[in-house]
Amino acid sequence: MKSILFVCLGNICRSPMAEAVMRHLAKKAGRADDFTIASAAVSEEEWGNPIYPPAARILRTNGIPYDTVRTARKMSAEDYDRYDLIIGMDEANLQAIRRISGGDPENKVHMLMDYAGCHRPVADPWYTRDFETAYNDILSGCRALLEHLSS
Ligand code: 4NP
Repeated sequence: MKSILFVCLGNICRSPMAEAVMRHLAKKAGRADDFTIASAAVSEEEWGNPIYPPAARILRTNGIPYDTVRTARKMSAEDYDRYDLIIGMDEANLQAIRRISGGDPENKVHMLMDYAGCHRPVADPWYTRDFETAYNDILSGCRALLEHLSS
């Protein structure tokens, strides 16, 4: 059993999308029981808010189920101990995660697109409103992550 925490700034767009996509890919691969998958924010900006409607819409368009009742929460220092992998969407997320957890002594903190072989952030849809590009990045990152965890 591997536990994975996806993390972004607000926990209403990128990380809930990654949580839903990864859960869906694991289920399709018959490996749903191999993973615990969750998401969190590095800020308190959106605490208590549900997934952002355009993010939910792109998931629905692509046939990805998502949790309609979950709400945004901030990552805690305990989450660092609780999860095997803490996966951020951009460099700022990684820095904030390390600040919350007091470093990364167990090398659990990684950036999603690194798994897809590109050291760059997931396209941030917050300002561009381009949820499709963000979704495609997240899909390729999660596919590569699942592959990585299968080898
Ligand atoms: P997320 O998107 O980090 O992908 O959930 C954002 C959500 C909220 C804000 C920025 C990005 N904000 O500035 O409140």
